[in-house]
Amino acid sequence: MKNRQTIQNLEKLLANSYALSLKTQNYHWNVVGENFKSLHELFGAQYEELSAAIDEVAERIRALGSKVEGTFENFSNLSKIKSGNKNFDKKEMINDLISGHEIIAKDLKLAIKVAQDEGDEASADMFIGRIQSHEKASWMLVSSQ
Ligand SMILES: [Fe+2]
Repeated sequence: MKNRQTIQNLEKLLANSYALSLKTQNYHWNVVGENFKSLHELFGAQYEELSAAIDEVAERIRALGSKVEGTFENFSNLSKIKSGNKNFDKKEMINDLISGHEIIAKDLKLAIKVAQDEGDEASADMFIGRIQSHEKASWMLVSSQ
């Protein structure tokens, strides 16, 4: 199949984004402390952004002719992002989320080149857009400390 490696990269992006979205929502629910309201809202906006991106990524996989394995088992097998810890303090939560965004952005940089080599400019463009979102999310998390 054409775009074979890009489809795999989209599947990895989907799994990592799902795991990071769930972790961000976990922290939206469990964060405590003096900045509670602003962090609760920041985490809320960030998991909603990830959730919208997840749908776009899954539909790109469909547009390339592959079915989407939309199961917890598959996401858990493919994801590099470890589960969140509800007992983290707010600084640990922020650092954990920053590291998740960085892991995904690093993978995306490689995925852009692969997509371009496979002649798939649309997926490359999606990967570039996702890097921008992850870098923006990291900046907001860094600035909230
Ligand atoms: Fe909420």
